[in-house]
Amino acid sequence: MPLVNTKEMFEKAYKGGYAIGAFNCNNMEIVQAITEAAKECNSPVILQVSAGARKYAKPVYLKKMVEAAVEDTGLPIVLHLDHGADFEMCKDCIDGGFTSVMIDASSKPFEENIAITRKVVEYAHAHKPYVTVEAELGTLAGIEDDVKVEHGSESYTKPEDVEEFVRRTGCDSLAIAIGTSHGAYKFKPEQCTRDENGVLCPPPLRFDILEEVSKRLPGFPIVLHGSSSVNQEYVKIINENGGDLKDAVGVPEKQLRQAAKLAVCKINIDSDLRLAMTAGIREHFNAHPEHFDPRQYVGDGRKYVKELVKHKITEVLGSVDKA
Ligand code: G3H
Ligand code: 13P
Ligand code: ZN
Repeated sequence: MPLVNTKEMFEKAYKGGYAIGAFNCNNMEIVQAITEAAKECNSPVILQVSAGARKYAKPVYLKKMVEAAVEDTGLPIVLHLDHGADFEMCKDCIDGGFTSVMIDASSKPFEENIAITRKVVEYAHAHKPYVTVEAELGTLAGIEDDVKVEHGSESYTKPEDVEEFVRRTGCDSLAIAIGTSHGAYKFKPEQCTRDENGVLCPPPLRFDILEEVSKRLPGFPIVLHGSSSVNQEYVKIINENGGDLKDAVGVPEKQLRQAAKLAVCKINIDSDLRLAMTAGIREHFNAHPEHFDPRQYVGDGRKYVKELVKHKITEVLGSVDKA
């Protein structure tokens, strides 16, 4: 099966009450870990590439690695541009064989966001085969590429804007801001309570906004960015093996599971992969200070990422046996 776009994948996910995992890829081991996990779960999957990933690994390597994963697994896989900053970046990816792109003009005024998104949609939909476009309304806190939005400067999506935005842009899916945030420090300690072990408990997601958006856009696929859960088991391994991650906190998996049963068809996960990879490598070095073969320690990182992705597919996304 060749690379696919998100159209049919999201239609099935919406009707089936599950979401597709969109995992960020930066190197071969991450691509392998995600797609081997997806294969063992017989799950469709989105592999997404940020501008930072393109800079780190070069677009041609990422494209060929994803093609290799398609050949290796036979799964329906989407190659998606994450947070495309402008028309040129999206065009470059569409011309280069991506099957889906995100144009992220969410920091621009409403009319400008519409105009840029519309331009990308016209180009993507005229492409043969059709390339799907994700757009965004509202802003998340946290860091993505070079953009840092401070806590307090984020803004929730306004449900009253979504029908006009989708109608005028023609986008295929919409990322909304309901309280998720990028990175491994999603909430400031003062926004949270603490449990009996001193672990931070974040404020709940704004399901009221999600419900209002989906009422206004029946059947339309919604996307959640910033959806790592910062699983404390990995934070613990990292900290017990020389790391220093204090008050790292994410979105509880239960809430993401709930969102996946509603209109959310795509859930973006990057930070959790980074934490799993780092936990595997740190643990390996601590146990084997004499090792210096990258296949040994990066191999352990890959093993942890694969376990994490299987856990996400089964316990959070609900996409097992949907390939
Ligand atoms: O949304 C941000 C993603 O985690 C990508 O991160 O820009 O550091 O590759 P990056
Ligand atoms: P996390 O930082 O929560 O993994 O979010 C990733 C993301 O939204 C990529 O676009
Ligand atoms: Zn994102």
